[in-house]
Amino acid sequence: MDIEELKKALEAVLKDVQAKLPQVQNENDFRQFVASVTGRKGTLTALIKKLSDIPQENRPEAGKIINNIKTTIEDEFNRHLEKIKQQTIEKKTTQSLQTDITLPGFRQKAGKLHPLRRTLSEIVHIFSCMGFDIAEGPEVETDWYNFEALGFPPDHPARQMQATFYIRNFRNLLLRTHTSPVQIRHMIKFRPPIKIIAPGVVYRHDDDPSHSPMFTQVEGLVVDDHTTFSDLKGTLEMFLHEMFGHDVPIRFRPSFFPFTEPSGEVDIACPICGIKGREGCSICKGSGWTEILGCGQVDPVVFENVGIDPENYQGYAFGLGVDRIAMFKFGIDSIQHFYKNDPRFLEQF
Ligand code: PHE
Repeated sequence: MDIEELKKALEAVLKDVQAKLPQVQNENDFRQFVASVTGRKGTLTALIKKLSDIPQENRPEAGKIINNIKTTIEDEFNRHLEKIKQQTIEKKTTQSLQTDITLPGFRQKAGKLHPLRRTLSEIVHIFSCMGFDIAEGPEVETDWYNFEALGFPPDHPARQMQATFYIRNFRNLLLRTHTSPVQIRHMIKFRPPIKIIAPGVVYRHDDDPSHSPMFTQVEGLVVDDHTTFSDLKGTLEMFLHEMFGHDVPIRFRPSFFPFTEPSGEVDIACPICGIKGREGCSICKGSGWTEILGCGQVDPVVFENVGIDPENYQGYAFGLGVDRIAMFKFGIDSIQHFYKNDPRFLEQF
């Protein structure tokens, strides 16, 4: 083989590479193709081996030609490999962006209000319609706001009823056992006329089907110069009729709270078995009645504690448990369900 023939043969290999390369579409085919040219048995390799046939004096020139062609072919290969890689990436991204609009969609589960929150909103709405403002206060209270100002001196037996969580190392601090301290704070800050409800979370160390260590209360307070017990009765009857229906039987019973005088408790007909009651009913114990709230006229001692003159002002107050009302409204047998966050329970509302 002389140098001219070698040159032609080399150019033929280059042309062949240039003609076939565009058809090589993926990296696997590419590697095979490269091997068929520059591999051990490749077309270019075969020609390079022919260098030894070239007469000695022409070898440097032949070497140069071979190197030139080899570099050109390798450049072509590198460029093509880049192209293939780029195409693969593009293919992958367009594929993942492709949307099949005929596929069924993923339905987003809509959240909704917790039954306690719904009940609370309903209670707040009813009282708002009757002209009550909303007052709020801290959940960690001092003994004075939660007890003393409300007529519970340190050793008063009525404290026993308010199973209190005290803050360790701070005997004076506790988790409020009712939202009555909010009313104390409000009366210290604002002068009568006062007409507020105090909704909020309260704490007592009780834990059974009808008691939770954390529960929600709404307490109300009205202070003015002509408030009477019949205002209290009318307001509470109106509220209970709005909440439980206009024909629900209601009764007032005398009771005791250190901060009201006279004090009362209000019962409604058993939401499970009605006014006649049923033996063994866990709610009314067969009596046909169940307690729904506590109330009374503000004790003059409370007014003295907050600097309101009991000679000129009277007031009434009431307190109800939101959890209990929600249990009655929805027919739920244990307060614990509200705090378990079990979707099977929550989805039912
Ligand atoms: N604070 C009382 C309690 O939580 C409820 C109540 C409020 C009773 C106002 C009477 C008047 O037990």
